[in-house]
Amino acid sequence: MTLVRSFFTVVFAVMLFIAAGFSITAPTYAQSADTGKPVEGSVPGGTTSGSSSDAELWRQIRSGDTGNVVGRDKSSGIMIQSQGEEWRQIRNGPLPMYSAWAILGILFLLSVFFAFRGRMKMAHGHSGKTITRFTLLERGSHWLLASSFIVLALTGLNLIFGKTLLLPIIGASAFSALTLFGKFLHNYVGFAFMVALVMVAILWVIHNIPNRHDLVWLMRGGGMLGGGHPPARKFNAGQKIIFWIVILCGASISISGWALLNPFTTTMMSDTAALSNSILGTEFATNLGLIQEQQLQTLWHSAMAVFMIVVIIAHIYIGSIGMEGALEAMTTGEVDQNWAMEHHSLWVEEMDEASQANAKAEPAE
Ligand code: HEM
Repeated sequence: MTLVRSFFTVVFAVMLFIAAGFSITAPTYAQSADTGKPVEGSVPGGTTSGSSSDAELWRQIRSGDTGNVVGRDKSSGIMIQSQGEEWRQIRNGPLPMYSAWAILGILFLLSVFFAFRGRMKMAHGHSGKTITRFTLLERGSHWLLASSFIVLALTGLNLIFGKTLLLPIIGASAFSALTLFGKFLHNYVGFAFMVALVMVAILWVIHNIPNRHDLVWLMRGGGMLGGGHPPARKFNAGQKIIFWIVILCGASISISGWALLNPFTTTMMSDTAALSNSILGTEFATNLGLIQEQQLQTLWHSAMAVFMIVVIIAHIYIGSIGMEGALEAMTTGEVDQNWAMEHHSLWVEEMDEASQANAKAEPAE
C-alpha cells in the first residue's frame, strides 16, 4: 500500500514538473463552475461534453508557433508542425527532381557543345614562352576550394540521391556506413571550404570588379561572335560571373550550413524574409517557428548548392578539356604567352608595363 502511495506521489510530482515546464502561451480555456461543462470555445475532445470544436485554437497550434518552454530545446515548444509535411514533400519531390534535371541538363549541354565545337585550340599554337599567371598561394587557395567543394558536393548529393541511386546497388549496411562517414566529412570539410572561400575572395576580388571591357566581351559572346577574342584583363566577364557566383553562393551555403550545424538556434530565414519585405516589398511570412526555420534552411542550402554544382561543372569543363592551355594556369602557374594574349590581352600589356617599370626602377649594375 505504501509502495502504491509512493508511486502515485512520484507520478503526481513528475506531472506537476512537466506542467510547470511546458508553459505554452496558448489561450486558456475554462470550464463553467456551475455546470462543470466546458464554456464556449473550450478545448475540443473534452470527454465531458466535447460539443464545441475550437477551430481557432487548433489553427494557432497547427501554425507551428513556438510556445515558451523551460529547458534548452526550445523547439519542443511546438506542439504540431503541419509545415513539416509540406517540407517533406518538397524535399522528396521537386528538390531531387529539379536537381537531377539541372545536373543532367548541364552535362548534356556540355557534351553537345564539345561534340560540335571540340576543344578550343590556341589560334597561334604554342609560342614556347610562358608568363606567370597564378602564384603558389593563389593556386593553393584554388585547389583547397576546389577539393573541399568536390567532397561537399559528392557527400551532399548522396543525401539527395543516395537512397534512390546507391542504396539498391551497394545494399543497406554499406550505404549506411558510407552515408554516416559522408555526413561527418560534410560537416568538417565545410570549414576548409569556408577558409578557402575567404582566401580566394581576398586574393581575386580586385580583379573581378566589372569594367567596360566586360560589356564588349559579353556582347561578343566571349569571342564566339565577331571573330577573335575580345580584350580582357586578368579575368574576363565570363570568369567574373563564375567568381561572383562562387563567392555569393558559397557564402550563402556556408551561412545556411552553419545554421544547420546549430539547429533551432537561428532565425536567419525570418530575418531574410523581413529584410526582403522591407527592401523589395515582398510579403514573406516573418514569424517562422524554429523547426520551420530549420526546414527552410535545408531547402535553401540544397538549392543553392545544386545551382553552384551546375555552374562548377561548366567551369571544370572550360578549365580542363574545354580549352587548350587553360589548366596549366592552375597546375604549374605558368601559361603560354600566345594563350595569354588571346584570352587576356590587356592583362599581358599590364604585366609588360609593370615589368618595364620594375626594370627602370632597379639601378643598372
Ligand atoms: C577539377 C576541378 C577544377 C579545375 C580543373 C579548375 C580549373 C581552373 C582553372 C584552369 C582556372 C584558371 C583559369 C584562368 O587561368 O583564367 C580556374 C579558376 C577558378 N576556379 Fe577552378 N577549377 C576546378 C574546380 C573549381 C571549383 C570546385 C571551384 C569553386 C568551388 C573553382 C573556382 C574557381 C574560381 C573562382 C576561379 C577564378 C575565376 C575563373 O577563372 O573562372 N574551381 N579554375
